[in-house]
Amino acid sequence: MAPILEISDLKERARRRVPKMFFDYADSGSWTESTYQANESDFAKIKLRQRIAVDMTNRTLATKMIGQDVSMPVALAPTGLTGMQHADGEILAAQAAEEFGVPFTLSTMSICSIEAVAAKTTKPFWFQLYVMKDRDFINSLIDRAKNAGCSALVLTFDLQILGQRHKDLRNGLSAPPKFTPKHIWQMATRPMWCMKMLTTPNRTFGNIVGHAKGVGDLSSLSSWTAEQFDPRLSWDDIEWIKKQWGGPLILKGILDKEDARHAVDSGCDAIIVSNHGGRQLDGAPSSIEILPEIVDEVGDKVEIHIDGGIRSGQDVLKAICLGAKGTYIGRPFLYGLGAGGKQGVTQSLEILQKELDTTMALCGRRDLNTLNRDNLYSINGVKV
Ligand code: FNR
Repeated sequence: MAPILEISDLKERARRRVPKMFFDYADSGSWTESTYQANESDFAKIKLRQRIAVDMTNRTLATKMIGQDVSMPVALAPTGLTGMQHADGEILAAQAAEEFGVPFTLSTMSICSIEAVAAKTTKPFWFQLYVMKDRDFINSLIDRAKNAGCSALVLTFDLQILGQRHKDLRNGLSAPPKFTPKHIWQMATRPMWCMKMLTTPNRTFGNIVGHAKGVGDLSSLSSWTAEQFDPRLSWDDIEWIKKQWGGPLILKGILDKEDARHAVDSGCDAIIVSNHGGRQLDGAPSSIEILPEIVDEVGDKVEIHIDGGIRSGQDVLKAICLGAKGTYIGRPFLYGLGAGGKQGVTQSLEILQKELDTTMALCGRRDLNTLNRDNLYSINGVKV
């Protein structure tokens, strides 16, 4: 087997192991995918400043995100249907993150439920919330996250309506799944995936099915989801969510400096500069392009995190230099999961850790917390 040296190696292995409709679900952006692609390619437009003859011993990547210790500032982003990349995907990813000392964020749209993940982990994880029209259900989700000991709520505000992903439509991906001969063939050609999936009870949307009113099984899920995402969501909603939750709150989906100011006024503990991995507004700027503007606007008032397009430790380092206190990876850990279950997720984190550590040293720094724009040579061809 080809060695796994970088995230793209995990991606190619996942492509061979995960049924096409689920691999494509992860590896897709909305419409032309221009924002999805820019998320990755814009990192390459930032150049680092190499330093030599400085003491590079005793290096550390350890830091804090929202006051919580992390072995490096890389959290696992919330991703829906993670349990379809690999059976028990959310549990395995949470366990890998826990052992690595980085946060795992469980999506509202996960396959394994909050309780199933809590039962198989020993440290608190984070829970991501989509706000839906059924506020009783949202309150109950928040209570379940509290009961499970979750240590942060990630509130996603950029998905009031859904960006269209052509690949999912072409693949006929739907909830409940409609299994055509094409789908059955795609799964049959991935026997390991099938075997593991057949032996787990976690094959439905565990946070929703059996919990939301009127969603007793998968067949009622589709219409419920279609009408539940709330197009009337507003800044005022943060107040009751904060009150109900009562713990650290991270607002996800900020891509505009006016919205960043609103987020600060709402009193959240951190914001995530994010375009949902290029899955919502196609044509929006990449997260890394907009990050400096947001940092200049509110960086002294709120902790800033970023996700979108991070594929290497070098990318993490560039985001930190530009003022992010934390980063998240979505697809990189999903590729790891599809490629090799829990071990694959660990590999994705190891790759980033090694790259980040070596890159920091070559920039002449020993502690991530000392990095800033001085460590960059240029952005978009413009000298810093
Ligand atoms: C996501 N994302 C996401 N975000 C969220 O708040 N709730 C969710 O349920 C999901 N679901 C989801 C599924 C899949 C397959 C992907 C790829 C992404 C967005 C995610 O949290 C994050 O913003 C991006 O994945 C970051 O970009 P990268 O690292 O994937 O490039």
